[in-house]
Amino acid sequence: MVNVKQLIVSTVIFLGMVSSGQALASKLADQTGIDEPLGTRSILSPAKIDARTQPTAKVCVEGEDCASGASAAGSTQVAAADTPKSPEELYNNACTACHATGAAGAPKLGDVAAWEPRIAKGDETLYKHAIEGFNMMPAMGTCAACSEDDIKAIVDYMVAESK
Ligand code: HEC
Repeated sequence: MVNVKQLIVSTVIFLGMVSSGQALASKLADQTGIDEPLGTRSILSPAKIDARTQPTAKVCVEGEDCASGASAAGSTQVAAADTPKSPEELYNNACTACHATGAAGAPKLGDVAAWEPRIAKGDETLYKHAIEGFNMMPAMGTCAACSEDDIKAIVDYMVAESK
């Protein structure tokens, strides 16, 4: 009788191993892209590189025969990318990380007491410090997409919100 019991136990273990082996095999197949045609499996294959480096939007010129749905979505994206961002939006993108939390000793937006001595330095100094950096304040506030005029506009916004 002991043998029957052992037989059942080992059958269960064996089945468990088989099914987990199958699961692993199919997972590996997913990862290696074995289902994909040869030449497109590698992340360095031209097909994969093309897929990764697609432009986020395509311009569809009037009169051109563009794929309707996709180009409609694409052209709104172009419009969105071309619309200049407001100082508030730029602030929210680039500056909140420190200026909403006070990280690294950053004066918080709306903290009148923290901003008072800074505002007293004058706009030009604040612009300069925001553009060139100042102690723990990184140059351009880490906003790679911002122009110097954008930074000045954001500083004006921050000052106006913190008086
Ligand atoms: C990595 C954190 C960090 C980010 C991101 C950041 N700041 Fe600052 N900022 C600081 C710190 C810290 C100070 C205080 C520096 C000091 O007084 O020593 C500061 C100070 C300032 C000051 C006052 C400078 C002065 O002379 O008193 C201005 C203006 C300013 N930041 C603007 C900005 C703008 C605009 C952005 C976004 C484009 C930005 N900061 C993003 C950390 C940051």
